Amino acid sequence: MGNNERLMLKLMLSEPSKKWLLDELLSGIGWEDQVHVAGSGTALSDLGLVSIEESIETLVSLGPEGELALDDGLLESRLWRCLSSLPESDRTMGRLFEEGFERHQVGPGIGLLKSIGVSIDSGKLVATDESLLGDEIEIREKFISLLSDGPVSGSQLDESMVSHFLGRKGLIAVEENISRSWTLTEKGSSVDVTTLGHVEMIGEVTPELLQGDDWKGAMFKSFDVNSPAPIPSGGRPHPMQALIERIRQVFLEMGFSEIEGDFIQSAGWNMDALYIPQSHPARTMQDTFYLSEPKKIDVEEHYLDLWSKVHEHGHDTGSKGWGRPFDKDESKKALLRTHTTVNTVRHIAENPNEPSRVFGIGRVFRQETIDRTHLPEFHQIEGIIHEKDASLPMLITTLKTFYSKMGYPDVRVRPAYFPYTEPSVEVDILWRGQWLELGGAGIFRPEVTEPLGSEWPVCAWGMGLERLAMIILDLDDIRQLYQPDLERLGRMPIL
Ligand code: PHE
Repeated sequence: MGNNERLMLKLMLSEPSKKWLLDELLSGIGWEDQVHVAGSGTALSDLGLVSIEESIETLVSLGPEGELALDDGLLESRLWRCLSSLPESDRTMGRLFEEGFERHQVGPGIGLLKSIGVSIDSGKLVATDESLLGDEIEIREKFISLLSDGPVSGSQLDESMVSHFLGRKGLIAVEENISRSWTLTEKGSSVDVTTLGHVEMIGEVTPELLQGDDWKGAMFKSFDVNSPAPIPSGGRPHPMQALIERIRQVFLEMGFSEIEGDFIQSAGWNMDALYIPQSHPARTMQDTFYLSEPKKIDVEEHYLDLWSKVHEHGHDTGSKGWGRPFDKDESKKALLRTHTTVNTVRHIAENPNEPSRVFGIGRVFRQETIDRTHLPEFHQIEGIIHEKDASLPMLITTLKTFYSKMGYPDVRVRPAYFPYTEPSVEVDILWRGQWLELGGAGIFRPEVTEPLGSEWPVCAWGMGLERLAMIILDLDDIRQLYQPDLERLGRMPIL
């Protein structure tokens, strides 16, 4: 037994049949940290000297909606108050909207009223028994007002009301409070107090100690390496940053160099250079964020000329083009880049005769509705191999190598379509028995490479980063990555 256990046992022996609470033990021994009581208590219970009792108390308090209900009344009450002030012939759902209730209130509100005796009779809301309805609403509101002064123990509340309100969003919150007490066992009460004096214990084995003889016959403090301890929270890179860093290492290791580009681009470089027809649906305001300031960005006339020829009739790429007039003003529209392919294309334009293998990891912007797997700002892992013998097998091998290094060796490609590649493929990886689509790739069409001044084929790809992050970090909602919840971020795997 260590000194802490001795102290605790000694105190408890002063009233051997008492049930000790945490505060009594802390003040009786003069400890400040409850960790000492928990630790010594467990050690004494392991020795069979003390028994520990746990009791769980639930505390019920008002949630944000509950606080609102305190002032304005519950939704069913507000609706019924409004309905009953109207002549019976006007008690319709439509009328509730006119009275200022919103769709998200009327729907669930009618549901609530129906469950307490309101029915819909040829479009009118009628109560089977108005006074019964009033009583039920009153009981509910009384319950809510019981909680107005702060949390109340669940044992003092009507259980059916608690479970009713738990089924409604934000009205109440239930918290569990565990309290413990410690009592001597028979064996514990028969310990002789005089044997419980302070003992010298060696807590640290040092070289000095081992050189002498003092350790012989001494008592050593024992450590329970399995006992629970708080996890230290240190600084760490944000998981997304760590993932980006790892991807960067993989491409660098594979012999690629990194490139970057601006978020703001012209439609010309973001789309026309990629032979995306000017009438393409993805070019509308619904998909693309166009800027009002600056509204236009200058694009070199030389490229505008070439793109308009290529788009209109194919120029001398061997293609027939889109066969539609090309609008140079459209090319000058400023936008937030919708893909990082704009970076690789510009890289080719700047280095048309130099073989290159480059990659970039960058943010892109699209008008997406936010949900579990979509954000209007996300990242792409983009890259190209631009050299004389670039080919589709080379592209596929490169992507396979990349994903294997990331821990996903099973990669497959399926035929796909992009206006700027031929052939085009969709890239999937195998994850827990499922194929997940992670991006697009292909060989740039001559309509793309020729105006840039290149004569070589280009292997190109653009992969989603967030989707990969979700599987690597085991997230079911992409938004978790960007919420400043330090605790959750801290628990994500270290890459
Ligand atoms: N830019 C495409 C996208 O955003 C991906 C892609 C890149 C496809 C390069 C083919 C070649 O989905």
